Amino acid sequence: MAPTFKILSAAAIITLAAACAKHDNHQSNFQKRQVLTPGGRDEKDWAYPESYDWGSINSNYSLCQMGTQQAPIPLALDQGLSQRHRPDFVGFPSNVTGNFYNWGYGPAYTIAHEDGRFNTLPSMTFDNKTVYLRGWHIHAPADHTVGGVRSRAELHYVMVDSAGHEAAVLALRLDPGQTPSPFFSELPKPLLGFNETDQIMNQTLNPRLPLEAVDFFSEFWTYQGSLTSPPCTEGIRWFLARTILFISHEQMQALLLVSQFSARAEQQVWLHQINA
Ligand SMILES: *[C@@H]1O[C@H](CO)[C@@H](O)[C@H](O)[C@H]1NC(C)=O
Ligand SMILES: *[C@@H]1O[C@H](CO)[C@@H](O)[C@H](O)[C@H]1NC(C)=O
Ligand SMILES: *[C@@H]1O[C@H](CO)[C@@H](O)[C@H](O)[C@H]1NC(C)=O
Ligand SMILES: *[C@@H]1O[C@H](CO)[C@@H](O)[C@H](O)[C@H]1NC(C)=O
Ligand SMILES: *[C@@H]1O[C@H](CO)[C@@H](O)[C@H](O)[C@H]1NC(C)=O
Ligand SMILES: [Zn+2]
Repeated sequence: MAPTFKILSAAAIITLAAACAKHDNHQSNFQKRQVLTPGGRDEKDWAYPESYDWGSINSNYSLCQMGTQQAPIPLALDQGLSQRHRPDFVGFPSNVTGNFYNWGYGPAYTIAHEDGRFNTLPSMTFDNKTVYLRGWHIHAPADHTVGGVRSRAELHYVMVDSAGHEAAVLALRLDPGQTPSPFFSELPKPLLGFNETDQIMNQTLNPRLPLEAVDFFSEFWTYQGSLTSPPCTEGIRWFLARTILFISHEQMQALLLVSQFSARAEQQVWLHQINA
């Protein structure tokens, strides 16, 4: 899950871009802006390779060290799969517009919506609650292991409540396979590099495609977790699809080329209530 400030700074970039002239470039409106405020990547006082020590960097990060529901945690089939908290995607359209960018570690996307109107975003329900898809980003390698096996990458659909606070994350493991993923085929080529965080592209895409590839989370693990980066805020429900989303070898190579290491060390299972 992306750090909150990074999402905010991406939002700032997007606001600037929305105000600037469009330049047609291939099928999308390519917008290149030198943003004066730091993109977020250089602002942070923490790094993924040192994720064991985040709690000691800054007093605001104490949950990273002493939280009881820190994410990610190792999962396995012998824990069973969840029969509860089942997500329902009736409110998911097949077309959204938004901004494609690189969050400094890999591809990312924020769906366009009116300021503060989060309840106009694609919606998902679970436990009689409705949450909204604000955007997605990709980590490489995957944050979650299953049975000790770590996928090449992991796609996070960040779901917020109607006030815009992170409430849930849908996590999909990505691995190379024989067939190109239609979802990845929709993304700009080439993908924006990890060092191109000042660029964004206006992009239409189908947010149902990754869900179709994992049978709309028909089988999943779920637990009570946290942001996987400082300040490691808790109260976030994680859903990890059992099915892996396969993309072609070429798509995986293109993805890894624009990615930087962004997996937090796995946390010990404590009060996560896996599948409960
Ligand atoms: C993005 O593209 C859509 C559809 O082409 C258009 O309606 C929208 O105004 C564009 N947004 C920006 C910020 O250029
Ligand atoms: C902790 O967060 C508060 C509120 O965002 C901020 O004012 C303060 O400077 C932060 N503390 C440190 C050590 O960064
Ligand atoms: C989604 O939008 C694109 C670009 O505007 C369009 O080409 C495509 O037909 C749309 N797809 C659906 C299912 O509406
Ligand atoms: C959802 O609402 C129904 C009807 O009010 C209720 O019976 C059910 O227990 C609720 N489920 C949860 C998980 O809160
Ligand atoms: C940015 O990264 C790409 C690879 O993703 C590389 O080809 C390019 O040279 C880099 N640009 C700069 C300015 O470092
Ligand atoms: Zn993430």
